[in-house]
Amino acid sequence: MAVALGWAVAALVLAEGAGALDNGLARTPPMGWLHWERFLCTTDCANTPHACVSEQLFMQMADLLAADGWKDVGYEYVCIDDCWMAPSRDGGDRLQPDPERFPHGIRQLADYVHSKGLKLGIYGDVGNKTCAGYPGSYGHYDLDAQTFADWGVDLLKFDGCYHGTLDLLAEGYKNMSLALNKTGRSIVYSCEWPFYMLPVQKPNYTEVKQYCNHWRNFADVFDAWISIKSILDWTASHQDSIVDVAGPGGWNDPDMLVIGNFGLSWDQQVTQMALWAIMAAPLFMSNDLRQINPQAKRLLQNKEVIAINQDPLGKQGYRITKDNNFELWERPLTGRAYAVAVVNRHEIGGPQLFTFATSILGNGLACNPACSIQQILPTSEDYGLHNWVSFLKVKVNPTGTVLLKAAVIEELPEEKLAPKSKKLSLDTL
Ligand code: GLA
Repeated sequence: MAVALGWAVAALVLAEGAGALDNGLARTPPMGWLHWERFLCTTDCANTPHACVSEQLFMQMADLLAADGWKDVGYEYVCIDDCWMAPSRDGGDRLQPDPERFPHGIRQLADYVHSKGLKLGIYGDVGNKTCAGYPGSYGHYDLDAQTFADWGVDLLKFDGCYHGTLDLLAEGYKNMSLALNKTGRSIVYSCEWPFYMLPVQKPNYTEVKQYCNHWRNFADVFDAWISIKSILDWTASHQDSIVDVAGPGGWNDPDMLVIGNFGLSWDQQVTQMALWAIMAAPLFMSNDLRQINPQAKRLLQNKEVIAINQDPLGKQGYRITKDNNFELWERPLTGRAYAVAVVNRHEIGGPQLFTFATSILGNGLACNPACSIQQILPTSEDYGLHNWVSFLKVKVNPTGTVLLKAAVIEELPEEKLAPKSKKLSLDTL
């Protein structure tokens, strides 16, 4: 009997693990910092010393991640994007960093990052060239994977520019995944495979998840509301094909958090943080941690939002309804709880009320027979007890979001279960 049970457990574990890249990594969405959106391909260190893509930039970010509370809440990977390389490979055909901007090499940078208790990410490309024109990995997958492993790299963002045919794209992404595994080093594998496929062919997400720890589906994020809303619209309109595949080991990646930069209002930053938590997105900030305002920092370090993002159940959320410029999203959490986001998509006027029945949440189960509801964003508030026939009325600023968490209460005394219409105080909004 014990043996039979053992086999049953093993079979279950296999079934659960089947389909995810078998490297044991990214059991929850990875978190860290990535240079691209904020620092792009700035290589002129003489004139822009604080913005250029150099070892100094990554060392400074590592210092701040460790010193300013970021690491403590989960931001762990310090990631280099495009433009770190020298224009050509070395005599042994290996990739090499630009000698002026990374005079001590990547191995030493990795050691430094590790000494802070953090991990280092690097960037490469499946094709002949990176998107910015530096050497691509085509024809060198094994060598490049080994080079990254020798340097002590912990994450590879693998881009898809100059990939050639769709077959080469697929082969390249798969081969790099196998090459990374062969090194024996634990390296998170971040792909853009579906994004480069999508204009031509629908990706096979089950296959993508077998090779990648997370994958981009949509265009690059930029520092503007139009970018955030286009990512949300794309995600909601493709949710039937992308939500179910996400889970421990493999995640849809809607791209970097741009909170703390220039282009988003406070409410729009709240929307990005709330919805990236709902979407179980990898949380890679691209901002300047040397100069970030306290409000943006508090938002990015909000432990309750991060707990939703990192929820161990590992289910991605989805949009339930879109109604008169309001959107309602939910994400199932452990313990039959739900995260709920109410997004006000109006771009005119002031705060508006949105009323909805708790019975719409969790297919009717989130507040059945009752639940307690907390507001997490934009401020923390207790909404108290509700039941399966309650209505919630929330007030949301234009382009802003109210993020709630509903925790089911299984047993309540009879009198507390009496239907109640609504009770909310949102005076602080
Ligand atoms: C592509 C990627 C971006 C970034 C740039 C770098 O556009 O999608 O995230 O890596 O390349 O050139």
